[in-house]
Amino acid sequence: MKVRITETVLRDANQSLIATRMPFSDFEGILETLDKAGYHSLECWGGATFDSCLRYLSEDPWERLRKIKSKVKNTPLQMLLRGQNILGYKHYPDDVVRKFVAHAADNGMDIFRIFDALNDFRNIRVAVDEVLKRKAHAQGAICYTISPIHNLENYVKLGKELEDMGVHSLCIKDMAGILGPQEAYDLVKALKETIKLPVYLHTHSTTGLGPMTLLKAVEAGCDGIDCAISSFSNGTSQPATETMNYALKQAGFDTGLDDKVLKEINDYFKPIKAKYITSGQMDAFVMGIDTDALVYQVPGGMLSNMIAQLKAQNAIDRLDEVLEEIPHVRKDLGYPPLVTPMSQMVGVQAVSNVLLGERYKSVSKEVKAYLKGEYGKAPGELNPELVKKVLGDEQPITTRFADTLEPQFDKVKEELKGIARSDEDVLSYIAFPQIAEKFFKEREERESLKVSYSIVKK
Ligand code: CO
Repeated sequence: MKVRITETVLRDANQSLIATRMPFSDFEGILETLDKAGYHSLECWGGATFDSCLRYLSEDPWERLRKIKSKVKNTPLQMLLRGQNILGYKHYPDDVVRKFVAHAADNGMDIFRIFDALNDFRNIRVAVDEVLKRKAHAQGAICYTISPIHNLENYVKLGKELEDMGVHSLCIKDMAGILGPQEAYDLVKALKETIKLPVYLHTHSTTGLGPMTLLKAVEAGCDGIDCAISSFSNGTSQPATETMNYALKQAGFDTGLDDKVLKEINDYFKPIKAKYITSGQMDAFVMGIDTDALVYQVPGGMLSNMIAQLKAQNAIDRLDEVLEEIPHVRKDLGYPPLVTPMSQMVGVQAVSNVLLGERYKSVSKEVKAYLKGEYGKAPGELNPELVKKVLGDEQPITTRFADTLEPQFDKVKEELKGIARSDEDVLSYIAFPQIAEKFFKEREERESLKVSYSIVKK
């Protein structure tokens, strides 16, 4: 049986281990080799890569995509897209979502993995539709979480919704690494029994469950898994490509991967990893296993944010109370998956409830917007008393928030005349206005420097 392997070193591994700081020049030299390994796809764009290129690396993310495409000619390129949020946390109007997808496809993107933090699929419909129009591969992702209302039945229903939307494949997205091997087995089995689409599994090794979870998922019929080349694997990243390849081949699965090429890829990345460790960009902490998420059912990133917040307020001794408060807040908010931005909202609210000695004495504007329905529909019931306390007589919206937004692309394009050089620039600006503006300026300066240098040389 065939199992497809997606390599994440350029995106999720890069994001999880070194905060997405890998510049193009660090991996340029291995792209043609990556193309020869036999991967199902190369995850290389989206998520935080776009923001990081503009913000920290002074790279044009679109140009990065084109450059990758020019060297990776056979292996499909894959990206992570937050549906209506594109790459950020606010909702964009439909015309922007469509333009973004269209340009990503034009610049070489083949597979779009699309999700919504609340699994409110009204928020991915437009992106999926545009991907289908562009004849690219639309993969619908379900965010995995543990709560009293999330069960197999519920996940199968979500899978069915995605199938009805016309996606080409499904992905179970376990961003916190809390999906256990047996749960993965049962979940994949249940999905495969009802849904005809290929099922992919994305997890992290954060809690140490990752490799076992992937193996059990494949045993249950999972069609594809995400792995990272070993030097950029494990810890908060994905399970190692070579390890999974070895174990799967031994069990009689056909991964299509070439062991020799994998070794070449890993040999290339080893000194790069060493460089990040020396510079302190790769922290030993993220490379190990942290089982706290299993104890508290709270993702590792969320836990460390809360600890930092408590320390800053000299209240680290209240951590246990905060951890006890989290399930209450989650219940009141209708059990949102603990993925960004929900994980921050729940964490900050729990800290505030404990430190102020009263529930919801203070409520952030994000939680207020959430209760208003601006992020989408909560998976479960919102606490009606809380809604009343925060919104008063204001009515929450029940339609899709993006339906309330005016088209934006042409207007911004007009405003950026003389600044933006392409539609891609306009999209970068819409996604991250200040950072893109700074990037455009730096680009201008770099180029005028080059010009004056070449004049001097003459
Ligand atoms: Co991930």
